[in-house]
Amino acid sequence: MNLLQLVKQKVQDAFTKVGFPEAQTLVRLSDRPDISDYQSNGALPLAKTLRQPPREIAAKVASVLKEDPFFQAVTVDGPGFINLKISDNELGANAFRILSESHGGYERPDTPKKIVIDYGGPNIAKALHVGHLRPAVIGDSIKRLCRFVGDEVIGDVHLGDWGLPMGLLIAIIQERNPTLPFFDPNFKGEYPKEAPFTSKDLETLYPLASQRSKTDETFLNKAKECTRKLQEGDRGYRALWEHFIKISVSDIQKIYQELDVHFDLWWGESHVHDRLQQMIHRLQKDGTIISDNGAEIIPLGKSKNGNDLPPLIMVKSDGAVMYGATDLATIEERVDEFHPDYILYVVDARQGLHFEQVFSGAEKIGLAQKTHCEHLGFGTINGKDNKPFKTRDGGVMTLRMLIDLATQSARQKMESGEMGRDLSESEKDQISQIVGISALKFADLMNERMKNYIFDEDKLTGTEGKTGPYILYALVRMRSVLEKMGVSATIEENDLVTITHPTERQLLLRLYALPDSVQTAYDNRAPHVICDYLFKLAQDFNSFYHDCPIKTATPDIQKSRLALTKYALHIGLLMSDILGLKIPNKM
Ligand code: ARG
Repeated sequence: MNLLQLVKQKVQDAFTKVGFPEAQTLVRLSDRPDISDYQSNGALPLAKTLRQPPREIAAKVASVLKEDPFFQAVTVDGPGFINLKISDNELGANAFRILSESHGGYERPDTPKKIVIDYGGPNIAKALHVGHLRPAVIGDSIKRLCRFVGDEVIGDVHLGDWGLPMGLLIAIIQERNPTLPFFDPNFKGEYPKEAPFTSKDLETLYPLASQRSKTDETFLNKAKECTRKLQEGDRGYRALWEHFIKISVSDIQKIYQELDVHFDLWWGESHVHDRLQQMIHRLQKDGTIISDNGAEIIPLGKSKNGNDLPPLIMVKSDGAVMYGATDLATIEERVDEFHPDYILYVVDARQGLHFEQVFSGAEKIGLAQKTHCEHLGFGTINGKDNKPFKTRDGGVMTLRMLIDLATQSARQKMESGEMGRDLSESEKDQISQIVGISALKFADLMNERMKNYIFDEDKLTGTEGKTGPYILYALVRMRSVLEKMGVSATIEENDLVTITHPTERQLLLRLYALPDSVQTAYDNRAPHVICDYLFKLAQDFNSFYHDCPIKTATPDIQKSRLALTKYALHIGLLMSDILGLKIPNKM
């Protein structure tokens, strides 16, 4: 039992003892840390059902709790809140049992869920850009969070590797290099193993082709023709397309690796092609899909807020299968392959309508009954003008540039002496990389998902305030305190904590609050809750470090303070791992 559960149990017993066994304890962390650690609001609803004054009920329960030496103070406040302050002794005595645990006292539910999480969403032949940071970082963190809670999670990158963009690329390459064997219908041999282009070539060719298709109809038609032939399985086109995938994916993986963001599956839209064809035939037959001006659509009913949803277009009048169609077939694939309880989509909030349509389509065809689909949207990263972030000359801000801005800013802070004063040049190079990326990730995760935020590299690499480096500093300090005192960070049974100062108490209580933060973050799919926790933990540790000398303390107190530091480090690392932050050895 963690501390919250222990308190709940005691309050429950007290309610039972005074004759209210059915009562809900409604115990939670206190809103008033100045007077209590936990509070129970259970007397309030009970008073309503029993038509008794809530303060009277609370007073009865409190009189039982007051007898228990576990509590240092029990008071009834306001309309009938029971405020509980735990004795210092008990706080210290439970530390080893609860805080050394591999999930920091978080008790995993007995029935873990199976979850497919769709995040990242990169597209073949397009460089990752600023819009790809959030789906990667938030998605990866929600995956880590669900795993922490005990769920079985499959992370799928869901590559954009199908459809017109691929046709556009093929068309422009064919126009420029018509003699390549990929385009020779009579070619029977093996296609070249080496791609006749680099990823840079693709990244320049794609925008050219896309631009051109907007004004040049012949070219557009050619691209559509290429798309159709690719999808129908043209041997040469498929071989060429495989080169697109190979070189793009290897580029994309490099950046995700740098961000320490990982996926279990590298499937893409193309993966459901055959399934989609069958699905379309089936739904045409049973009347779910109807023809509408040459397009094949699924009419949808009302949305959750009562508006009419536009129909889900499966196949356009020119024969192209649509984004919504591949998403629908992908739900079926995931249900068939993995039987997940949930499918989570970490995708830009601006795709909200798209997912509403897809999920509504899934309901129509009986898939939504087999799994829960949730769109976890997020806001945009804006520049200082509060408009979507661009380069200075208005161009696309690639993810590469964004990472470089953060790591270079961390490096500059080392030049100016704000951090890394004792590092060698090569350490500075290496550590600014770790710090810059953790800073970038933290700055992204700390915002409520749905809100937009303004990117400011100077601020996010700052060492003061709610930033990644502030958190890293605290964790690095915990490690170095132990190291300097020659103490291993491994927690041992005799790591007892004795409270001698309010900042020790405050820090210890923070450590016990991990389960609460994890649960709130999990229930709301909200990594920012973990960021809040870590920020407060860093603040509490810094106050403790400032107020409670270790080196000069008496041996008993010193040992207790070092133990507290170990617990803080353990809990801090668990939480920073949920965010996917890397901690440097020094900084
Ligand atoms: N590739 C898509 C885009 O760039 C994002 C994919 C999101 N996932 C999904 N299942 N639709 O917009």
